[in-house]
Amino acid sequence: VLDDKGVSSVSVANASAISFYGSNQPGIATPAQNYLHFAAFDLTGDQSEELRTVLELASAVAAELMAGKPYKKGAGTGLESPPQDPGETVGLPASNLTVTLGLGPSLFGSRTGDPFGLSARRPAELRSLPGFRGEDISSAMSGGDLCVQACADDPQVAFHAVHTMALAMKEYAALRWSQPGFGRTSSTSRAQLTPRNLMGFKDGTENIRAEDGDAMNTFVWAQDGDGPGWMVGGSYLVAKRIRILFDVWDTTTLGDQQRVIGREKLTGAPLGSRSEYDPVDLSATVDGELLIPANSHIRLAAPRENGGQRILRRGYSYTEPVEPGSGEIDAGLFFIAFVRRPARQFTAIQRRLAESDALNQHTLHTSSSIFACPPGARQGGFVGEGLFQ
Ligand code: HEM
Repeated sequence: VLDDKGVSSVSVANASAISFYGSNQPGIATPAQNYLHFAAFDLTGDQSEELRTVLELASAVAAELMAGKPYKKGAGTGLESPPQDPGETVGLPASNLTVTLGLGPSLFGSRTGDPFGLSARRPAELRSLPGFRGEDISSAMSGGDLCVQACADDPQVAFHAVHTMALAMKEYAALRWSQPGFGRTSSTSRAQLTPRNLMGFKDGTENIRAEDGDAMNTFVWAQDGDGPGWMVGGSYLVAKRIRILFDVWDTTTLGDQQRVIGREKLTGAPLGSRSEYDPVDLSATVDGELLIPANSHIRLAAPRENGGQRILRRGYSYTEPVEPGSGEIDAGLFFIAFVRRPARQFTAIQRRLAESDALNQHTLHTSSSIFACPPGARQGGFVGEGLFQ
């Protein structure tokens, strides 16, 4: 709908709008969209009231933008003040935007203090991730008090969500780091085909699917009795930026690449099988050798090797500008996983991978973060409301 100035006033297709409200936050079980804009913020104040305001603002922005509307708080502003919504999505559809909010461990106090008085409310699971063998973590690109995961089918819509939110929260929160991503590297619904990551392998074959309610409850959603009541229906988000070392990977033979992952590159089939979803037989041998090698990624990450643990992967590819003069591509996987119990699930699996995964020769972890994503907001409420009750 265009007004007399030719500007679309009603967003084009709210067929592509997902509701912000519900018992779980959007952007976890939602079928993975193709673009990501992830951002972490630090709060600039030290009052519990300010934290509440930030969460109310973030939720209000998320609800409006996900509905495909511009953000506008209170009375409209005119020509005499800067627009509350920067405006770059006027005329664009909602594009299945989801905004997922998470709280960092730093909000719940540290050795040096407890500015928001929340230390007694910290979920036991919300501890900064430990370091793992072989990493080179930038602390400037890790952590933060609050995270915003914006995913959409249009990168401009995902960017706009972070842009508008940063503007709305300017008085209370400073942007700490951000990460754009493209090309989902997972399938989170049975309706989706498996995409490929930047190594050219199908990624997401053995992921948890949203349709599998039992697996979602066992491995993704925090349950009654797990910890604080305000996290029930929430989940923990783990994010790791993992650079792919293309100078090594791209000069590795196809046979070795397949042995690193444990699957065929073209079809995604487990080594020795014909198609992607053929069952993975970790015991199969040929001439006394394991068909899926002992140090292959899918063997070490498989539930069989990890006490039955699984995780919901929902990551994206990323690329950065080439460092001038280096001649090296800086790109890889912005790994995101949602889990019910980070220590038992993500950390335990990652420890095994860090020890002996053949993939380690081809990757370098450069950022590492964890956030507690509370349950979804009720209509008219905000994410994290339970913290204040
Ligand atoms: C750049 C880094 C990584 C790349 C390129 C990568 C790639 C892959 C590929 C191609 C597969 C096989 C297809 C599939 O089932 O999705 C896979 C499976 C898997 N990956 Fe990764 N991965 C990476 C990092 C990680 C990390 C850090 C974790 C967790 C700590 C992880 C956990 C898993 C799990 C749980 C599976 C399924 C295993 C199974 O049950 O068969 N991956 N990954």
